[in-house]
Amino acid sequence: MEPVELRTERLLLRLVTAADEAALAQACSDPLIARYVPVPSPYTSQDAQRFVAASAAGWADDVQYGLGFYLADSGLLAGTCVLKCVERGVVDLGYWAAPAHRRRGLTVEAARRLCQWGFDELDIHRIEWWAVVGNTGSRAVAESMGFQVEGLLRRRAYQAGEPADWWVGGLLSRPA
Ligand SMILES: CC(C)(COP(=O)(O)OP(=O)(O)OC[C@H]1O[C@@H](n2cnc3c(N)ncnc32)[C@H](O)[C@@H]1OP(=O)(O)O)[C@@H](O)C(=O)NCCC(=O)NCCS
Repeated sequence: MEPVELRTERLLLRLVTAADEAALAQACSDPLIARYVPVPSPYTSQDAQRFVAASAAGWADDVQYGLGFYLADSGLLAGTCVLKCVERGVVDLGYWAAPAHRRRGLTVEAARRLCQWGFDELDIHRIEWWAVVGNTGSRAVAESMGFQVEGLLRRRAYQAGEPADWWVGGLLSRPA
């Protein structure tokens, strides 16, 4: 699929490009992103290049739909969000915000728009969210968007080299 551009009141969501590599490398050097998102640490400009290429490939291969979110007025990169195919009808939502742009509701605004697009355009009935137990910021975003936290999976996947407990939640295309 061709990458889409989406708009909200304060944001433009579009595919990241080579011009974003410096901003991506700076944001992904943030300790909170390094802790909670599976990014290389330390994060180099080559990692940013790989991320830009993988984002385009994800759309071309129809396996993941990732967009940067940019302030509409200044064009600054505020964060990224992505829907990744998990299995038939189910995608996984991921997001991060650059430290300078947090706590302004921008991640919720961007991720809500991406999920709305996903329900409209992809043949999906469920969007899933996972976060390591204790990532209260991620959970607050998901709950603000209407995700229902459905449970806690014990030692379900590694985080920072150790098996960790994970919260899992879901957002459905229509009420269950
Ligand atoms: C989690 C993260 C994406 C939040 O981004 P943000 O842009 O600050 O989120 P928003 O401003 O849209 O906040 C949405 C809600 O979450 C709350 N929130 C945000 N960060 C929070 C935190 N650290 N602790 C508690 N609540 C938090 C906000 O107060 C807001 O609540 P409200 O809707 O009741 O007003 C950001 O801190 C981040 O990038 N963290 C590191 C990467 C990460 O953890 N990604 C998710 C992996 S599962």
